[in-house]
Amino acid sequence: MAFRWKNDLTPADVTPEGMWLNRRQVMAGVAAGSILGPSVAGAQDTTLEPNSFEDITNYNNFYEFGTGKDDPAREAHRLTTTGWEITVDGLVDNPGTYSVGELIAGLTEESRIYRFRCVEAWSMVIPWNGVELKDILDRVGVQSGAKYVAFETAVRPDEMPGVRFPTLDWPYREGLRLDEAMHPLTLMATGIYGKPMPNQNGAPIRLVVPWKYGFKSIKSIVRITLTDQEPFTSWNNANSREYGFYSNVNPNVDHPRWSQASERKIGGGLFARREPTLMFNGYEDEVAGLYDGMDLSKFF
Ligand code: MTE
Repeated sequence: MAFRWKNDLTPADVTPEGMWLNRRQVMAGVAAGSILGPSVAGAQDTTLEPNSFEDITNYNNFYEFGTGKDDPAREAHRLTTTGWEITVDGLVDNPGTYSVGELIAGLTEESRIYRFRCVEAWSMVIPWNGVELKDILDRVGVQSGAKYVAFETAVRPDEMPGVRFPTLDWPYREGLRLDEAMHPLTLMATGIYGKPMPNQNGAPIRLVVPWKYGFKSIKSIVRITLTDQEPFTSWNNANSREYGFYSNVNPNVDHPRWSQASERKIGGGLFARREPTLMFNGYEDEVAGLYDGMDLSKFF
């Protein structure tokens, strides 16, 4: 099979699984304090005291299970992922409600080693398993008027204690421009480290867009809508000054409250120095062309 995407990462670059599992403790040690938003750590270089990790039980961003650092890991086991269905609607030839199996059956499942960069200024290298979103969209038949893809996460008050509070305007929603969605790097992930997706990471199926900040990678998807309008996105709605529709990793455009120019690599040692953040998270060769002629400080 011809390579449809380029990869300069090897298994040697992968964040060790134990470090991945513990990253929340690691980063909780970095975060000076918790505020509402996907961005909690300041940009200043922080010296980590090993003993401060021991007090921290977990750290995750999945607000449907709560905004507390340890809420998702504690609560996400409540999510029922068997019999999961995804509604595909809008400008498609084959709208309907499909099981995950129906949507991905027969598609090429791949393991992709991607950089993953969060607004909090930490990064990782993670092996995801999944299918290209493009293959799913081709299967449902995108109509010619479609310009964007909108995604929604499940809202289940009985299983997701966080949605009982108006932290965000539920459901959690995200969106991509159609050409971003059709890009071969854009993955619908069903697993991680060769295992089924853990609930707190977005089981049974989530988006992974490696050149954008982590919050674009919406978890536990139940609806995919093809539309001709730029979709509502949760963080843009919550704070449009801080979170734009595009949310491309871009060291040249600072977040209003801190620089985005550097990051700390999890797995590089607890006292790893900050490294310069790469344009488009290192995927510039692959995706810069999507934004030719656009002012990325305006369309951030
Ligand atoms: N998806 C949903 N449905 N709800 C969320 O709160 N948080 C986002 C993103 N997807 C979030 C979500 C944020 S802020 C980040 S950084 C990533 O998920 C974290 O993914 P991870 O826990 O797999 O690292």
